Amino acid sequence: MGALQGKDLLTLTDLTAEQLRDLLDLAADLKTGKLKPQTNKTLGLIFSKASTRTRVSFSAAMYQLGGNVLDLNPNVTQVGRGEPIADTARVLSRYLDVLAIRTFKQADLAEYAQYADIPVINALTDSYHPCQILADLQTIQAEFGSLAGLTLAYCGDGNNMAHSLMLGCALSGMHVRIAAPEGYQPLPEIVTQAQKIAQVAASPGASEVLVTSDVQAAVQGAHVVYTDVWASMGQESEADSRLPVFQPYQVNEALMDLADPEAIALHCLPAHRGEEISEAVMEGSQSRIWDQAENRLHAQKALLVSLLGLV
Ligand code: CP
Ligand code: NVA
Repeated sequence: MGALQGKDLLTLTDLTAEQLRDLLDLAADLKTGKLKPQTNKTLGLIFSKASTRTRVSFSAAMYQLGGNVLDLNPNVTQVGRGEPIADTARVLSRYLDVLAIRTFKQADLAEYAQYADIPVINALTDSYHPCQILADLQTIQAEFGSLAGLTLAYCGDGNNMAHSLMLGCALSGMHVRIAAPEGYQPLPEIVTQAQKIAQVAASPGASEVLVTSDVQAAVQGAHVVYTDVWASMGQESEADSRLPVFQPYQVNEALMDLADPEAIALHCLPAHRGEEISEAVMEGSQSRIWDQAENRLHAQKALLVSLLGLV
């Protein structure tokens, strides 16, 4: 039985550094076709927020494995009419084999996991986006050969992406610098959690988890420059007032010039060109954004294969 069979992925701290490494290696083998596991199991998707990549890559991954997918839009199930999470989770566990959930509160996701007998996957909450980071790390590893000792600079909002990047980089022995304006920095308890992981997981020596408002200093010499939208889903009403605050954090050619000459630019997408990232960087030679998006498919297939115990 694989180490992750039957487990949940609610946040990256559900994985040990070794389990994360194994998942990334599995994702690489699935991408090349070296491994072709098959199943007839069923994945349920409960998405309370919009999604292109996560919805489609999870669905395609499950179909490619020979399995089935049910898109359980909350508006067409009793979830949207207020059936309790605890009841929904127990009933769905009798029909399905794995659930991927995109919702607002991490506590709601945790409640699904508490009552479900099947693996529950975080497909994005306000707090975390662990599946995205699996694809990001796969992309970085493919580019540089390994992860430990590399530096990732994240520029922008201290949001779900910043939180999960801190944890994923710390688990991988990478240095991570979050550059965000005062008032928009990541939650201190998650920074502390990542710093503790960095001290334990990194070998040899501790990696660094740093939060700053100085974006130029953060990007200096970095191997990966990462950004995300300035207003996340659920924050649309703040979008205009955030623009001037975040403008200095735009990932553009001048900022990329401060990074390592071999640096790559990543973005989880969807992007707002001309806001958090310039058109030139997005479409330029340092962008690995389209490979990164493709890797959602392979990384999540690796996750499904592991949670379902197919390898
Ligand atoms: N990056 C990401 O999760 O994209 P979607 O919102 O389209 O799923
Ligand atoms: N921070 C963004 C990520 C989208 C994939 C959001 O939550 O909307």
